[in-house]
Amino acid sequence: MKNSAPLALDLAGIKMNSPLVAASGCYGYGFEYGTWVDLREWGAIALQGTTLHPREGNRPPRLAETPSGMLNAVGLQNPGIKHFLQEVRPRLGELGCPVIANIAGESVAEYRELAAILDGVDEVSAVEINISCPNVRLGGISFGRDPVAVGELVSAVRGTYRGPLIVKLSMEASDLVAVGRAAESAGADALSLINTLKGMVIDIAARRPFLGNLTGGLSGPAIRPVAVRAVWEMAVAVRIPLIGMGGIASAEDALQFILAGASAVAVGTANFIDPHIAREINSGLRRFLEQEGLDHYSELIGAARDCPESR
Ligand SMILES: Cc1cc2nc3c(=O)[nH]c(=O)nc-3n(C[C@H](O)[C@H](O)[C@H](O)COP(=O)(O)O)c2cc1C
Repeated sequence: MKNSAPLALDLAGIKMNSPLVAASGCYGYGFEYGTWVDLREWGAIALQGTTLHPREGNRPPRLAETPSGMLNAVGLQNPGIKHFLQEVRPRLGELGCPVIANIAGESVAEYRELAAILDGVDEVSAVEINISCPNVRLGGISFGRDPVAVGELVSAVRGTYRGPLIVKLSMEASDLVAVGRAAESAGADALSLINTLKGMVIDIAARRPFLGNLTGGLSGPAIRPVAVRAVWEMAVAVRIPLIGMGGIASAEDALQFILAGASAVAVGTANFIDPHIAREINSGLRRFLEQEGLDHYSELIGAARDCPESR
């Protein structure tokens, strides 16, 4: 018998109607889209990154178009946690789906403080810690590279936040799997991967880097094969669920991540092209399940590993 909710899941305690997550930084606080998009198409919405103090972000230009992707150096511009509590929190009920707060700090103490504040916020279903933003100089990146530092950071946050804790990994780590394992051992409930990849575009007329920040984070279809590979490798290394992301713009793209071992998938850059992308991808996933005669998408998680070459 067909399952009545073939896309529903419980991801580390987050009850989701679909494995699709709106990726942090690419969907604002969600409610900006609420008048013209049915937000319940999302299994969860990861809010834009929040820091302890307001941040103005990097100097412009902050965006550059690249082949099959874009380079951004927004630099975690956000109004800070106080504004979040006063202005954003009261509106989170409008979203109609679970909310994941994404946090970034400049020190372990800042991450701890943010997590402690969010522990008391019922409207937030989970916290995602960004240890990996490639275009913030003082920010998470220094944590994200080193398994020992990641372990310490995650333990510290785990000590103050009791809900589902997601750690968002950086490809800047020389040994990504070691970082993922360190996060798991320190108490992470799920891993998000991947964040953007550090890149640069040169303005040849000006003879200088195009972005005000010099470098930025590459996202979109250009990074998808790197992201699928990262999920593939992480899936055998840890037992906690993975949220795969990087260049997903269709159900077929999402299926690649699921078959590689992701339990859920996030969509970032594709929202800028098609704000209704969640509806499209959900329909495509349902169609695929029907074609394949499957009851639930979870039957596909990691199924690509069954090929003889990977045994
Ligand atoms: C403009 C922009 C802002 C982003 N801001 C954040 C952020 O605040 N926190 C975070 O963890 N990731 C952030 N990301 C990374 C995305 O959540 C995602 O990991 C990455 O873009 C890869 O997915 P995509 O190719 O579907 O965009 C940002 C990405 C973009 C393009």
